[in-house]
Amino acid sequence: MDQELFSAVDQFVGGTIVEEDEALRGAVAAAEKAGLPAIQVSPPQGKLLQLLVRLVGAKRILEFGTLGGYSAILMARALPKDGRLITLEAQAEYAEVARRSIDAAGVGEKVEIRVGPALEALPGLDEGAGPFDLVFIDADKVNTPTYFTWALEHVRPGGLIVADNVVRDGTLADAEAGDDATKAQRRLHEMLSEDSRVSATTIQTVGAKGYDGFLIALVEPA
Ligand code: SAH
Ligand code: DHB
Ligand code: MG
Repeated sequence: MDQELFSAVDQFVGGTIVEEDEALRGAVAAAEKAGLPAIQVSPPQGKLLQLLVRLVGAKRILEFGTLGGYSAILMARALPKDGRLITLEAQAEYAEVARRSIDAAGVGEKVEIRVGPALEALPGLDEGAGPFDLVFIDADKVNTPTYFTWALEHVRPGGLIVADNVVRDGTLADAEAGDDATKAQRRLHEMLSEDSRVSATTIQTVGAKGYDGFLIALVEPA
């Protein structure tokens, strides 16, 4: 592993094709000041989310795991004017930090934060919030398969489900992996191998956040 090199490449990409503006830098600074962990998507990863939002022509997005609002700001910016993003966050203090940064970034009207464990928020989303065009799963990793299963029923055909942190330093390939988060991501892959409702791939990533990866799934027409 050459973490310095991975970070240097992210820096180069960040200095050329993936511009971070004042509001995004402000969101990172506010999160750091409030003591939130610095585990938001990297700028190049965030740009991928933006491209996916635009490619599917998303108008309704659901995010699991708001943290300080970094990925929410990016995805909301990629939405059209009448697009909406709902983001679920368990920690009320994180949600407050995110609310301020999202408003400061000028996308406050597009973004609704629902505070509480995501599992408890899901029934409430059945009341007219969906169907969604894109779901980004980035909360507690042990529940990723559960959130994915829910998303399968709530994303329109042609929509996307994206899950972060599925590779986990390569432990995804380890059948003997002991930690529950890795077991969950392995279970998700095994689950999808038998599910014709989606066509999916996992892309490994290196960068400022180390070695990890995204699972990207397209919901097939019924
Ligand atoms: N998507 C964010 C990063 C999310 S980090 C970004 O890229 O900017 C993961 C977040 O999920 C943390 O804020 C954590 O508090 C939240 N989380 C953890 N368990 C959760 C749960 N059960 N329900 C909702 N949010 C949860
Ligand atoms: C970590 C990274 C993430 O992208 C995330 O959502 C949660 C945790 C981590 O590196 O610990
Ligand atoms: Mg993540």
